[in-house]
Amino acid sequence: MRFTVAIDGPAAAGKGTISRGVAARFGFAHLDTGLLYRATGRRALIAAGAADAVGEVEAIAAAKALTEADLARDDLRTAEAGAAASRVAAIPAVRAALLDWQRGFARREGGAVLDGRDIGTVICPDADVKLFVTASDAVRAQRRYEELHLAGHDVTYEDVAAQLAERDARDAARDAAPMIAAADALQLDTTSLTAAEALDCAIAHIEAKL
Ligand code: C5P
Repeated sequence: MRFTVAIDGPAAAGKGTISRGVAARFGFAHLDTGLLYRATGRRALIAAGAADAVGEVEAIAAAKALTEADLARDDLRTAEAGAAASRVAAIPAVRAALLDWQRGFARREGGAVLDGRDIGTVICPDADVKLFVTASDAVRAQRRYEELHLAGHDVTYEDVAAQLAERDARDAARDAAPMIAAADALQLDTTSLTAAEALDCAIAHIEAKL
């Protein structure tokens, strides 16, 4: 059986929690596509030697050389990797280099859930279920701050909020596959929902389409 769930939305809206829960509930494979851009950004940074020296050449080469092992590193969750990701993600050739792999994943036997920014619009426009997950800016910043703080990163709420705002603005304004809800996506605002409530909403919506 092939069944594709596309989950998009801004940073820290709850996409990851919902995607993992959906994958566990239905036995689907899960791909966090942000990791592809984070790993590409990290590789490009290393190749270029400094953040401000990263150019298209390094970024495109990094995207083409990506392996599954690159996605398993635990230093991909840092704010630096997120910022680098959002810069390389605006380069059309980087997105093109990562396209086929994501589409192949989406068509896996047994079902797949992919989360990102352009899954319902560009990667899987024919997905069986599309969700666009949002939450208020303040709630998203608070969630990401707590996550980073718990993981031992030395960050302030203000810095986290500023970084999220900058990243979301860049992701929504870029020409290549901007972050936007697909016309046929269910919009899920998690501002005042617990993680369990948000997951229940997503599961109910998917069950209705299975
Ligand atoms: O989801 P996450 O915050 O890990 O994504 C990091 C960055 O990767 C995003 O800010 C965005 O620029 C980019 N991204 C993207 N398209 C996706 C997933 C992530 O452009 N499908």
